[in-house]
Amino acid sequence: MISHVLPTYNRAPISFERGEGSWAIATNGDRYLDLGSGIAVNVLGHANPELVAVLTEQAGKIWHVSNVYQIPQQEKLADLLVENTFADTVFFTNSGTEAAELAIKMTRKYWDHEGQPDRIEILTFDGAFHGRSTGAIAAAGSEKMVKGFGPLMPGFKQLPWGDMDALRAAISDKTAAVMVEPIQGEGGIRPIADADLHDIRALCDQVGALLILDEVQCGMGRTGRLFAHEYAGITPDIMMVAKGIGGGFPLGAVLATERAAAGMGAGTHGSTYGGNPLGCAVGTKVMEIVSSDGFLAEVNRKASLFRQKLEGLVAAHPDVFEGVRGQGLMLGLKAKVAPTDLVKAGYDEHILTVAAADNTLRLLPPLNITDEDITEAVARLDRVAAHFDGS
Ligand SMILES: Cc1ncc(COP(=O)(O)O)c(C=O)c1O
Repeated sequence: MISHVLPTYNRAPISFERGEGSWAIATNGDRYLDLGSGIAVNVLGHANPELVAVLTEQAGKIWHVSNVYQIPQQEKLADLLVENTFADTVFFTNSGTEAAELAIKMTRKYWDHEGQPDRIEILTFDGAFHGRSTGAIAAAGSEKMVKGFGPLMPGFKQLPWGDMDALRAAISDKTAAVMVEPIQGEGGIRPIADADLHDIRALCDQVGALLILDEVQCGMGRTGRLFAHEYAGITPDIMMVAKGIGGGFPLGAVLATERAAAGMGAGTHGSTYGGNPLGCAVGTKVMEIVSSDGFLAEVNRKASLFRQKLEGLVAAHPDVFEGVRGQGLMLGLKAKVAPTDLVKAGYDEHILTVAAADNTLRLLPPLNITDEDITEAVARLDRVAAHFDGS
């Protein structure tokens, strides 16, 4: 008999009832060191007192108002995002998938507005993940995600990941946009080289195409910069954000330049819950903390410490790991054994990690993880790896 919860996940037999910083505490009292952060979501750890305070304060005032009214909490967060990024304007969503949908719609509307309504082709890359809506699965195009879901939304072409020659051959004055994650998350913590991201921007400019960056997983301080594309010294036209922006409260956003958003007038898009006062109150606090003086410097310091220890771990377990990848606290251990087996062994050692494609184990700790917890994490990962030594 089918479970009452639609069985679309292979769930681990653990349930958590509370959390404290980098620790998730199971219903049986066991404490797990959380290097998954709900897959790059809880950027400030579990039950962060500052976030709990703003959420409860807002909850005592007003939870939900329709977007047919002004929402000051939304305007405040939009101001902060615009002040700190390339963007001129922001639309709030509840998830990354919804952000992907709007990015696609905005692109199509832009070209319609420009008098080229047939210019719909968006170039994407193998291994990409943009969400689970019909548009987002068509964008990523992987067999696993699209199989059985019938005719796909047209207008996407996947190119081999990291193949700049393929991009040069495919891009033309018919290309509507290029959509890319600066660092693939689900695809296995695969960063695009800064020089390539720079070239992608230049190629888009040559043909007039829009550049859409998906920073749902790699954004919001995760890489040690507020947004990962800053390393390459370029800016997109449209950017999808979610996960970390709400620190655990469901919140996403599409950031855009005025030019890219030119077609999006009143009535072209909407959301009942997107940008609600609760989400935006929390999102504002997350933004204030992550963009405060010294916060990202601390992320980078911790990332160096963690990385250095992980290099030691890799060297100590040559049968298990091949290397460390990623940037900041978006780290991956390229493995020689199945990452899902490492995740399972992690449960025995009370450490939470996340499997990804390309045989990679993802480590996405809260950005405010302590040095002691980093040391403890590596000790636990060492015990996890020991299960597989000699295999
Ligand atoms: C890069 C990227 N884009 C989009 C999404 C979809 O976000 P959500 O699950 O919030 O819909 C994800 C989720 O993992 C992601 O990693």
